[in-house]
Amino acid sequence: MAIPIPEKRVAEFEKFGFGMFIHWGLYSQMGQGEWIQHMKQIPGEEYQKLQQTFTASKFDAHKIAETAKAAGAKYITLTTRHHEGFSLFDTKGLNTYDAPHSPVGRDLIREYVDACNDVGIVPFFYHTTLDWYDPRFNNDFKAYLQYLRDSVEILCSEYGKIGGLWFDGNWSKPNEDWEEDALYKVIRKHQPEAIIVNNTGLSHRGEQGNPELDSVTFEQGRPTPMDREGMTKYMAAEMCHTMNAHWGYGAADVNYKSLAHLIETLCACRRVGANYLLNIGPTGEGEIPLMQEALLRGIGDWIRYTGNAIYEGKPCGITGAGKNFALKHGNKLSFYVHDLSISGDANVTVEGGGAGEKVFEGVKGKVKSIRWTDCDEQLSFTQDGDRLTFNATGYPYGKSLVVRVAEAEIDE
Ligand code: GLC
Repeated sequence: MAIPIPEKRVAEFEKFGFGMFIHWGLYSQMGQGEWIQHMKQIPGEEYQKLQQTFTASKFDAHKIAETAKAAGAKYITLTTRHHEGFSLFDTKGLNTYDAPHSPVGRDLIREYVDACNDVGIVPFFYHTTLDWYDPRFNNDFKAYLQYLRDSVEILCSEYGKIGGLWFDGNWSKPNEDWEEDALYKVIRKHQPEAIIVNNTGLSHRGEQGNPELDSVTFEQGRPTPMDREGMTKYMAAEMCHTMNAHWGYGAADVNYKSLAHLIETLCACRRVGANYLLNIGPTGEGEIPLMQEALLRGIGDWIRYTGNAIYEGKPCGITGAGKNFALKHGNKLSFYVHDLSISGDANVTVEGGGAGEKVFEGVKGKVKSIRWTDCDEQLSFTQDGDRLTFNATGYPYGKSLVVRVAEAEIDE
């Protein structure tokens, strides 16, 4: 059976490769994650007082967009409204539980979109479907769905062209009719090119859902290869991931993943053609915590050192040993080599650190040359049919990249 051809917007989305997720809302002021209202069963009238102290005094949309850019992210997905029900955008009178009716007094989504456009980052909107604020969510679900569509219509018509919509929460009422067709129709009316995602959650990773959706999700899990044979439509894949153990700001959560782990995870996503959507949780005032900024900048450094190889390459059936893999882009192949260490003087380097021959099977076409993308060193290689062996030299003293990328030119 045939693999469907991706629509243009889906093909472009796949090439974004890396995005920055942002969870930010009233909950950020409590510094205990975005589920705190539910976890502590805080009564609505108590929780909603957080609106009165929401000043966003350190929210700097430009700084955020520039940080994403420095990280090598091509898009940002920001929580315009999370499960708490508070909107960072102007709801135009749908209710007053929004940023313009808070001490901040501004439409923060406007600032976000403007900053993204200025910097050249594509803005996406996360929007909850599960709602702890609006009583209709439990009392009059049909009316609630109309409110949801009205909210989404504002987001799709007030801010110019956006990259897409990212919904989350249908898993909270798995047996309800969410009237998804009607919701997506609102989007298509104003934003025909928008990517539409609806998070299938932790227990249904990679599931396809409504035919209007453009990407499957792999929340907090390593994405598996997509089997697109016989699919009615080509869907992209995206894995979202926390940097520590919370999406929303966790003031006492120091459980950060290492930069090496994040780089390997980005590679694991690209290995199967999935985008990596990595989350940050700004503080209640809207500032990116230092540790999060540092990790993002580290990823950006890695992307640049490896010659921006992560964006265009696609899986191509080549297999390597262990975590090693290859992607193809035009007449170029990129080989992702893990676990190399520094070679050279025995006083400062560890012996036997994975340098040496690397074997890849399934290489079609004749390899003309191979070089590391982080320097101009040419690598020696032999090719026997579709089996390629090249000599992966260790890092020179002064360099260590977690995953090193070799690029080959091929004659097809
Ligand atoms: C979950 C959570 C939510 C988070 C989301 C991100 O569905 O409910 O808090 O926004 O995952 O993927």
